[in-house]
Amino acid sequence: MNRRYRKTVIAGNWKMNMTATETKKFAEDLKKIMPRAKWCDTLICVPACNISTAMKAFKDLRISVGAENVYFEEKGAYTGEVSADMLKDLGVKYVIVGHSERRHTVAAESNELIAEKAKVALANGVKVILCIGELLEDRESGKTMEVCKAQLQAVVDAVEEKDWENIVIAYEPVWAIGTGKTATPDVAEETHSQIRAFMASAVSPAVAENVRIIYGGSVSTKNCKDLMAKEDIDGFLVGGASLKPDFVDIINC
Ligand code: 13P
Repeated sequence: MNRRYRKTVIAGNWKMNMTATETKKFAEDLKKIMPRAKWCDTLICVPACNISTAMKAFKDLRISVGAENVYFEEKGAYTGEVSADMLKDLGVKYVIVGHSERRHTVAAESNELIAEKAKVALANGVKVILCIGELLEDRESGKTMEVCKAQLQAVVDAVEEKDWENIVIAYEPVWAIGTGKTATPDVAEETHSQIRAFMASAVSPAVAENVRIIYGGSVSTKNCKDLMAKEDIDGFLVGGASLKPDFVDIINC
């Protein structure tokens, strides 16, 4: 299928940045330059404590609000955690699972735990942005696809074929996150097309054609056009550059 049939997703990931007050100010600044996002699924994933503020602030901009994390149990004695049901009740459309910072930095989340999180989110009607991606040493030792396939396979095993309608795959090579070292459009496209080929064999050709695979890792106003021109790149998951009003230029590209 030609990429034109897959709706572009432009997602921001604010990580542990922006207070509620700063969120309101950001929305006001954005409104001055982009009254409404029109052409794509646009969302910003914010810290859990700012979801309600962001929902109100971004409503007129047609920017959806996503969450950055979810717990894998439905409810119970899990101090400090947030359930999928709570996110759904707030009106959250998407949640990020499997971000490399949760796999490697702030927590040692396993492929299987991440698959459980994806499953519970989907069961509660929250769509999933499933992050996958290799470390620098994996790439240097030729293991990029081995790592990505293992990360995907855990989710393939945990969910049903129809669930892939509600999953966006975010390929984020860890060596490109927050480093300014973007994968070149050709390097990113090569991995995106291999991921799509893997989805065809692991799930089905139809899922492979329809699933949106977005790129993350030092996406900026400078490189977004060239990346977006690639056949298998269906949008972006943007960290640092989503914290500035010129995020609009990435949405518009
Ligand atoms: P940067 O865009 O800051 O490299 O972050 C990417 C990322 O981790 C998005 O989830």
